[in-house]
Parts: sequence; C-alpha cells; structure tokens
Amino acid sequence: RPGLVRVVAVDGPAGSGKSSVSRAVASRLGYGYLDTGAVYRALAWHALAHAVDTSDASAVVDASGDFDLWISLDPAEARVSVAGTDVTEAIRTSRVTEAVSGVARVPAVRRGLTGLFRALVAGAGRPGVVVEGRDITTIVFPDAEARVLLTADPAVRAARRTAETEGADVAVVAASIERRDAADSAVVEFMDAADGVRVVDSTHLDFEGTVDAVLAVIAEETGAA
Ligand code: DC
Repeated sequence: RPGLVRVVAVDGPAGSGKSSVSRAVASRLGYGYLDTGAVYRALAWHALAHAVDTSDASAVVDASGDFDLWISLDPAEARVSVAGTDVTEAIRTSRVTEAVSGVARVPAVRRGLTGLFRALVAGAGRPGVVVEGRDITTIVFPDAEARVLLTADPAVRAARRTAETEGADVAVVAASIERRDAADSAVVEFMDAADGVRVVDSTHLDFEGTVDAVLAVIAEETGAA
C-alpha cells in the first residue's frame, strides 16, 4: 500500500515512562509522535473551560462536538492547543488529571477520538508515527507494525512520578496513580498484554536502557534486526 504511514503502538499505565520513552523512540526512528493521553486531557480541559460537569456523559459528548484540537506530531516539540489556546501546560494540572478519566469513560468520546487519531496519523506526512496511550495496541491500531506494552512495578512508577514533580509526596503520588490505574482499567484493558503485544518491563532499566529495549522489539517485529 503506497503512502502507508507505519505505526508503532505503545500502551502502558501512568508513570511507566511511556511518554518520554515513546518520544525518544520516535526521534531515533525519524518518526512522528502522538501522545493520545494529551488529546484526552485537552478534551477534558475543553469541557472544564465550558463549565461542563465531566461526570455527565451526555454533556461531555456535547462538548466534544466543538473540540477544535491542534497537536504537534514533532517528538522534539510537544505542543497542544484547543481553539488556538496553547494548553500544553494547562492539561498537566491536577484539575485536568482528576477530570480526564470521566471524559475517557464515555464510549462515544472514545470512538470520536479513535477516528481523530487515525486521521492524524494518516496525514502526518512522515514515514511513521509512534502512537502512545492505553488502547493503541488493541483498539486504535491493532495492525501496527510493532505493538509494545510498557510496564513497571507500581512502587517504581510512583517513585519516578514523584521525582518529576517538585514538592510531591511519594505516598500521595502512589495513591493517585493507583486511583487512575483503577479508573482507567475499568474502561480499557492495558495492564496485561493482548495477543501479539510485546511486554517491556522497565522496573530494572534506566531511561536509555528502556529506549533501547523498545527499539530492539521494533527491530525484531519489523524484521529489521
Ligand atoms: O497517559 P495520560 O496520563 O496522559 O492519559 C490521560 C488519561 O487519558 C488517562 O486517565 C487515561 C486516558 N487515556 C485513554 O483512556 N486512552 C488513551 N489511548 C490514552 C489516554
């Protein structure tokens, strides 16, 4: 199929390092990078900005009707905006983080964003895209050329998130990760690898080691090794 954009699909739980690892993998391959969690977050931000109750599914679906998203696919420049407003930093606030599971739980929202992700990849203008999220290996791109589930022990994930966040308390971060994992896995299964999805466990790997492990899996899966 000429013009086909190659896809590397990466799923994993909060704090697994999948965003930073996926971005580095994309840079190494000369691929684009799509952070689908950032899009779910941007939609939650949009709903909150319109005073929508994010626990009200039909109100969230209404709000998604005029969701005007722009997202950079450049792994060196992660930027997201909604209707021309740069929300790159705003989507990382705890207010959005707490609201996003409510948005991600709505089936019509998931269908709409899945279509958006496929369109963004098709129009990426790049040889390939590393797409990262929770249901990329299973729902969004089940035919990706390589599919990876990135995991790490919960204590290690909490410690990494704490180190990233100034003034954060590891017990609070661990509780927040646990709550989000529970909420997110009620919606999509991402804690166990689906058939044909390769697991990379980063518990005992550093950042570079994890990037190399994912690149090795991609090389094996694509027969480039
Ligand atoms: O990866 P993240 O923490 O930025 O994701 C934000 C939220 O979006 C998270 O609560 C799970 C949800 N999400 C999802 O349901 N499906 C995806 N493909 C990506 C993220």
